Amino acid sequence: MAFMFSAGFAVAGVAIAAAPVDVPDTMAERVKACVVCHGPEDRMGRDAYYPRIAGKPEGYIFNQLRNFRDGRRYYRPMTLLLANVSDRYLLEMAAYFSALEQPYPPPERTALSSNESKLAQKLINQGDPSRKIPACVECHGKALMGTAPFIPGLLGLPRVYLIAQFGAWRSGGLLRGQTPDCMSEIAKELTTDETNAIAAWLAAQSVPEKTGAAANLPVEMARRCESLFHRNDAP
Ligand code: HEC
Ligand code: HEC
Repeated sequence: MAFMFSAGFAVAGVAIAAAPVDVPDTMAERVKACVVCHGPEDRMGRDAYYPRIAGKPEGYIFNQLRNFRDGRRYYRPMTLLLANVSDRYLLEMAAYFSALEQPYPPPERTALSSNESKLAQKLINQGDPSRKIPACVECHGKALMGTAPFIPGLLGLPRVYLIAQFGAWRSGGLLRGQTPDCMSEIAKELTTDETNAIAAWLAAQSVPEKTGAAANLPVEMARRCESLFHRNDAP
C-alpha cells in the first residue's frame, strides 16, 4: 500500500533519510504542526492572520522559512518551530506545500471608489516611472499569479493580509524585510492610500483557474532582486 500514499508522504520519506540528528521528528509530524495554523484557507487566528501557503512557489516558501528561522521575518511561534532546522529540511517542506493543490477562496467584496480602482490598476499595470516603481506585473507576472521560483502570486490573498505585509515592509522593522530587497524598496515608495487601494483591488479579483506562475523574470527585474536570490541560493 505504501506506493498509494500521497506525494507528501514520499517527501516525508526523503526527509527522514536526510534529516540531521538534531531533528528528531518526522516530516509528517512537522507538517502537522504547520497545518494547525496553515489550513486550506487563510484565516484570522487568535493572535495573527494565518496566510495560506499551499501552492505558493517553492523558492518563495523556502525563502520565507529561512527568513523566519534567521530573524529576517518575525512571528515568534514560527521562529521557535524552525529554530535549528536545516536548509535541506526547509526545502523539502517548501516542496511539499508548494505541490499542495487547494481551491482558492472566492473574491472579497470590497468598497472601492472608481478613483481608487484606477489608481490601483495603474500602479499594478504601469507602475510609476517618476518614482522608479516598476509595474507589479513585471515581477508578479501578467496574470499576477507569480513568477517561478521566487515570486509569489498576488491574487487569492485577503485584503488584511496584504495591508499587513505593506505595513511590515514600510516600518522596515521586525516583521518583514529587515534586509532591504526589491520588494521592500518598492513598498517604501508607496503611500498608505496607494497600498490600501492596491490591497482592496487585488483581494476583489477572482483567481484564474489553471493559471500557474509565469516562468521568466525580465532581466532588469531579476537584477533588482539579485540580493534576495543570492542570499537564498538553494543548499
Ligand atoms: C501558530 C500558528 C503558526 C504555525 C504553527 C506555523 N505558522 Fe507559518 N505563519 C503564521 C503566520 C501568522 C504567518 C504570517 C506572519 C507574517 O505575516 O509575517 C505565517 C507565515 C508563513 C509563511 C509565509 C507565507 C507568505 O505568503 O509569505 C510560510 C511559508 C509559513 N508560514 C510556513 C509554515 C510552516 C512550514 C510551518 C510549520 C513548520 C508553519 N508555517 C507553522 C502562523 C503559523
Ligand atoms: C522588481 C520585482 C518586483 C516588483 C516590481 C514588485 N514585486 Fe512584489 N515581490 C517581489 C518579490 C521578490 C517578492 C518576495 C519577497 C520575499 O521573498 O520576501 C514579492 C512579494 C510581494 C508580496 C508578498 C506576497 C505574500 O504572499 O506574502 C506582495 C503583497 C507584493 N509583492 C506586492 C507587490 C505590488 C502590489 C507590486 C506593485 C506595486 C509589486 N509587488 C511589485 C518582487 C517584486
